[in-house]
Amino acid sequence: MPSNVIVGLQWGDEGKGKITDLLSKNSDYVIRYQGGNNSGHSIHIKNRNFILHLIPSGVLYSYVKCIVGPGVVVDPKSFIQEIRDLESIGINTSKVFLAKRAHITMPYHRLLDLYKEEYLGNRSIGTTHRGIGPTYEDKIGRMGIRALDFLDLKDFSKKLKYNIDFKNKIITKIYKKKPIIFESIYEEYIEYAKILSDRIIDAVYEIHDAFRNEKKILFEGAQAMLLDINYGTYPYVTTSSTSTGGVCTGCGIPPNFLKNFIGITKAYCTRVGYGPFPTEIVDRVSAIIRKKGNEYGATTKRPRRCGWLDLIALQYSCMINGINYLIITKLDVLSELEVIKVCIEYECKGKILKKFPLNLDQNIIKGVYIDFPGWKIDISHIHEYKNLPDNCKKYIKFIEDYLSLEVLLISVGSERNQNIIKNKSSFFKIFS
Ligand code: GDP
Ligand code: IMO
Ligand code: MG
Repeated sequence: MPSNVIVGLQWGDEGKGKITDLLSKNSDYVIRYQGGNNSGHSIHIKNRNFILHLIPSGVLYSYVKCIVGPGVVVDPKSFIQEIRDLESIGINTSKVFLAKRAHITMPYHRLLDLYKEEYLGNRSIGTTHRGIGPTYEDKIGRMGIRALDFLDLKDFSKKLKYNIDFKNKIITKIYKKKPIIFESIYEEYIEYAKILSDRIIDAVYEIHDAFRNEKKILFEGAQAMLLDINYGTYPYVTTSSTSTGGVCTGCGIPPNFLKNFIGITKAYCTRVGYGPFPTEIVDRVSAIIRKKGNEYGATTKRPRRCGWLDLIALQYSCMINGINYLIITKLDVLSELEVIKVCIEYECKGKILKKFPLNLDQNIIKGVYIDFPGWKIDISHIHEYKNLPDNCKKYIKFIEDYLSLEVLLISVGSERNQNIIKNKSSFFKIFS
């Protein structure tokens, strides 16, 4: 059975957690394919708030198998903590598994992330300091430690020793910091290995078997398109292939296993961390959106930068990801505004750009906007599209026409049930 992919189309935090949870109900598997615990995927159910960093957002359904896939990088300390936190509130995590090929984030990766950011000064990326970049660097540098190595502690010890000797040269000679000690890390990590060993599986065969047995599989993206290592706003990106292409490389599956590419966008834009953001709002409207949308990082608690919806960037994201269904989240957040702006072109030194440029210097490239009148009423209780105010429908229609895509679902609140299924026939065809 061909499967579904959920991907963020902006700079992250589009509401992937909420939507993945919603769509997990009719899934057999939910699988993360990239990223690490730099993610923070929130799910609100009644007065409970879950923030998942590594565990796929299908975990709240006890029948869903959740796999942390081969392309993910895993900090075992954070992973175990997450499992314990869920278990402590009665969530069953017995179906949470970790791919043998997933690379392991070590304490030196977190340190190297921090030291490099300090070293870069005003050129820093504004990373989450979770060691994600250095873990992927070791993977590409062919010296990483994988979950598989937790199953052979002798080999693990050898690999760890070699890595620590190497890293200590960088830590002491380049960053002039204190060396790290093998013994304490080894002791800590063999404990993690013991705790996790039963969950470590050959995910590639598991996923292929699931396909053969016609299971419903949902792949959950982390971060988002504009943070993609290849096609994002480089160098202000994360270090994985966040786009739908990353599903194949991240899970060892061929492209023809995938059918529905579901892109998630907020009704506006946010970005956390540094890097260009052409539609960033610098006046008081930014504070209104941040407050109403609770725009603070789910992982780092940093205030998110807020901006208007950028259709040039969104069109580019839909193109790279082959999006066939769009989900718009946080439409309710715009309800208070008199005027809502949408960026339809960029202007650069007197020239109009209709394509997303490689060099997106925010000081030179400015958004060209059209204004929509606000609707000025609360929409967070609405469940039927026909009941939305006309100004709201005009806004949605404009986005659909610009992108030549139909909106599948609109989210109007953080709760699991605060949704408007716009295209019911497609929705139930995909998720029943
Ligand atoms: P993710 O990383 O893409 O999963 O998104 P985050 O969880 O980091 O951030 C999205 C935030 O918006 C979370 O606090 C969600 O609970 C919240 N959220 C999701 N959808 C909506 C919505 O439609 N309206 C409002 N007001 N909040 C939402
Ligand atoms: P979710 O899955 C928003 C950003 C960081 C930084 C850049 C690189 O919750 O949408 P990294 O630690 O990955 O090396 O940092 O990427 N970033 C995110 N921004 N949401 C995320 O994840 C992010 N994960 C990383 O802020 O700018
Ligand atoms: Mg997030």
